[in-house]
Amino acid sequence: MNGKFITIEGIDGAGKSTHIPFITGCAIQICKPGTIVRMTREPGGTPLGETLRNILLNEKMSPKAEALLMFASRAEHLNSIIKPALENEEWIISDRFTDSSFAYQGAGRGILEVKMEQLEWWVQDDFQPDLTLLFDVTLDVSKTRLLRNSEKLDKFEKEQDEFFNKVRNAYLKRASKFPDRIKIIDSSKTIEEVKDQIVLIMNEFAKTL
Ligand code: TYD
Repeated sequence: MNGKFITIEGIDGAGKSTHIPFITGCAIQICKPGTIVRMTREPGGTPLGETLRNILLNEKMSPKAEALLMFASRAEHLNSIIKPALENEEWIISDRFTDSSFAYQGAGRGILEVKMEQLEWWVQDDFQPDLTLLFDVTLDVSKTRLLRNSEKLDKFEKEQDEFFNKVRNAYLKRASKFPDRIKIIDSSKTIEEVKDQIVLIMNEFAKTL
């Protein structure tokens, strides 16, 4: 596969949505001229995935059902969107991917890491993103940001501090386990300062192309 797959991660309220258009702009700058750069998201990205997203973000369910539906959405997304695009030399930028499952269903809901690895292996074999940008903030900052839109919080966004502490720590642990792939962005900084960090990471990534 000759395209590139970039994923964006972080706890709810970390500010990733604000920066995705800028990340896409950086990708367009560093890829070969004429390359198609597409945005997508998980859960979602396909008609089935969007139906599953609606269920996942609104319905209560067991941790096991939640993990399986996240990976069901991913299986569909990989086979019908991500892999064909990469084979066509396109770049795909996904708002969340499997690191979210390790952080939210693994650490947050308490599913054993080895079980998550089995699902990952079943759905992806050894397929991994080429680059992951992890937007990191303290819980205080993320909560302040989430409360600005508090009337439309989804199931995950309504979780307690203890849950988000586990999710955040799991993300940071994954970043130290996969330092070549996962790059941490201090997203408590101003929008301009965060953009500077994104430019540095994307320029480093450009050197590997
Ligand atoms: P999010 O990406 O934050 O979208 P929005 O900005 O529209 O709220 O919401 C998706 C939620 O799904 C988020 O709370 C994390 C959760 N999620 C998981 O728990 N596991 C996963 O594998 C994925 C992809 C997402």
